[in-house]
Amino acid sequence: MPATILVGAQWGDEGKGKATDLLADEMDYVVRYQGGNNAGHTVLAGDQLLKLHLVPSGILYPHIVSVIGDGVVVDPAVLLEEMDELESRGIDVSSLLISGNAHLVMPYHLELDRVTERHLGRQQLGTTKRGIGPAYADKAARIGLRVQDLVDEKIFRQKLDVVLKEKNLVLSKVYNRLPLEGETIVERYMDHGRRLAPHIADTSAVLSRALREGKRVLLEGAQGTMLDLDHGTYPFVTSSNPVAGGALTGSGLGPREVDRVIGVTKAYVTRVGAGPFPSEERGEIGETLVRRGNEFGTTTGRRRRCGWFDAVLLRYAARINGFTELFLTKLDVLSGFSPIKVCVAYQVDGERVEDVPFHQSAFHRAQPVYEEAEGWREEIDGCTSFGDLPPAARSYVDRISDLGGVPVRSVSIGPSRAQTLSAP
Ligand code: IMP
Repeated sequence: MPATILVGAQWGDEGKGKATDLLADEMDYVVRYQGGNNAGHTVLAGDQLLKLHLVPSGILYPHIVSVIGDGVVVDPAVLLEEMDELESRGIDVSSLLISGNAHLVMPYHLELDRVTERHLGRQQLGTTKRGIGPAYADKAARIGLRVQDLVDEKIFRQKLDVVLKEKNLVLSKVYNRLPLEGETIVERYMDHGRRLAPHIADTSAVLSRALREGKRVLLEGAQGTMLDLDHGTYPFVTSSNPVAGGALTGSGLGPREVDRVIGVTKAYVTRVGAGPFPSEERGEIGETLVRRGNEFGTTTGRRRRCGWFDAVLLRYAARINGFTELFLTKLDVLSGFSPIKVCVAYQVDGERVEDVPFHQSAFHRAQPVYEEAEGWREEIDGCTSFGDLPPAARSYVDRISDLGGVPVRSVSIGPSRAQTLSAP
């Protein structure tokens, strides 16, 4: 049975949580493959809203095994806090699996994320300050500590000894911060290790076996295509690979084990943090999108930057990820806008370009070329079928399929499950 990958087509916050939630019924495993607690999704646990950052949302379904894959960076304190919170609401977390290869976010990563951002001054990236970049940097430099080290105190100490000497020098001599105390870190992390031990596994082997047995696996990306370390708007990106290729390295599955790649895209565009955003609306329109779409980050509470739908980005994301279908979210937010603009190309130095410019300076200068679509006045959040939507809303969805070259299969018109329409 082949696996399905779910990827954000924009700068994150596309509503992947809702798409995962809808797919959960037909899945046996839900896997996070990259990122860490920089991500966030709001889920309904019992009758209360709960914010999850590390635990895959599949945890809410007793029939699903939730997996934190090899490509994730794990802050064990945050993970345990989420597990405790879930248990206190009566949700069983005993089946959660964590790859032993996943890297650990360490206290010095958090500290370094804060001080290096400050050091960058006006060049700040606007990170979530969760230690994500420094943790991936250590992974690439081969000085990272991994989840499996939590259950081997001797190895943990050896690795920490070496790395902490260097980190403390950097913290104290470069950034004028107090050095961190090794023994405190060992005690705390060994304590986390004792609690997490029953969940640590060879998750790549588990998933591969599951697929052979005909089980259904969903690989769930955090962030989005334009925040990808290799294919996003570098350096204004996260430090991992949310794109479909990252789902393979981040879970330990091969390319022939996937046959469906779902791109999740909002009906407009948002981004948090710094970096280029050609169709951004800074005035009244942006404000209305923030208000109607409640565009504030789940992790940091920051107001999201908002703008019109960008088909250039969608075509790019479709190419990089090989989308087989689209899940369009928050169409209801666009009710009342007239006309609705769609960015179909960019103008760069007087020339029209149809693709994302490969040079970052050109992308920074890109101006949107808009096509205008007819708007609709009525609220659509109560529609129960695609045919119920006003003709202008249906045309808008069709236009997105045409411009992206990928069919929109589902349209979300509100937060609840029922507010999801299948497109013909
Ligand atoms: P980091 O991932 O914390 O290093 O932040 C790098 C960039 O990615 C910043 O612009 C963040 O705002 C952005 N970012 C990280 N995680 C998310 C997310 O889940 N949604 C949207 N933006 C994110």
